[in-house]
Amino acid sequence: MHRRTFLGLLALAAAGPGLAACGAGPASGSDTTILRLALNQTEKHPSYIALTNFSQRLEQATGGRYRIDVFANEVLGAQQEILNLMSSGIVDLAIISSPQLENLNKDFQVFNLPRVFDDVEHQMKVITDPAISGELFTSLEAGNGLTVLGGFTQGERNLYTKKAIRTPADLSGVKIRVQESPVMLGMIRAMGGSPTPMAYGEVYTALQAGVLDGAENNEVSYSTQKHSEVARIYTYTRHLVGLDYLVASTKTLQRMPADIRAAFDTAWQATWQEFLQLWDAATKEAIATATKTGATFAEIDTSPFDERLEKFATDLLSSDVQRQIYRKTREAATA
Ligand code: GCU
Repeated sequence: MHRRTFLGLLALAAAGPGLAACGAGPASGSDTTILRLALNQTEKHPSYIALTNFSQRLEQATGGRYRIDVFANEVLGAQQEILNLMSSGIVDLAIISSPQLENLNKDFQVFNLPRVFDDVEHQMKVITDPAISGELFTSLEAGNGLTVLGGFTQGERNLYTKKAIRTPADLSGVKIRVQESPVMLGMIRAMGGSPTPMAYGEVYTALQAGVLDGAENNEVSYSTQKHSEVARIYTYTRHLVGLDYLVASTKTLQRMPADIRAAFDTAWQATWQEFLQLWDAATKEAIATATKTGATFAEIDTSPFDERLEKFATDLLSSDVQRQIYRKTREAATA
């Protein structure tokens, strides 16, 4: 068993009787029901800050009957493992990166395509519009017991490497970590590199050991995960606007009394909006921190990558459902 998962299970057991008593369901103390939320970011990441405020909002609105315990640092397991723990109701909530859901329903691929979202505003419009994303977000309930409730933006994702990258040819033979998803693997191949799928929490050590030559992410993850110490050149390829979902165990939602569910939904609305406020400042701070530790941020002419990414994205749409989500998403573009 993964060391962090083991530590996480210990943390769950210590957190309350829910797990120990029945192996499923939120931990119920005498008066307070505790929802367990899994996060793979550090306590400095804006997701952690917004989610701890989510808990406070819920606690206040329910007069202390419900709260959320946020388990940061991937301590309950990597995102693929967490999906299983949520299906069985051991974990109630998690922040899950969109590519991880492709493995459960291929239609999620559409939101992982390079350039499908023009910017954060466009992305938020799409994921809060039930006419575009509603069916997709409930599509995992019957088979996997998972409900997607909305999301946080990951902003633009860019490449970072040990040596400078300006063109697809520079990426030849360069091992780039990707999230565990077919779209992410294909995307790096299309850009000219060699993709290596790996869980987020493993990336620092793999970069340090030379198993990887680089990775791709936003500035906030680059800095808070300290990848900036071991892959010092951050290159603005702007290949993707990434998306994190708030995913819930469907069982947990079904168990909530109607008034609690209403309070939960209201608290979540305030939370994703707060996250957007935090995001720009966190990005600026991340750039400043990484620069201080020796990282450089490079603008390049992205056109040689753009052509390859566009072809990759349009070739990938493989069903009518996917083509329809893609069409509606593009029609909602705000730019
Ligand atoms: C971002 C995102 C995470 C994701 C990570 C990754 O940090 O917010 O949810 O797991 O990228 O690349 O794996």
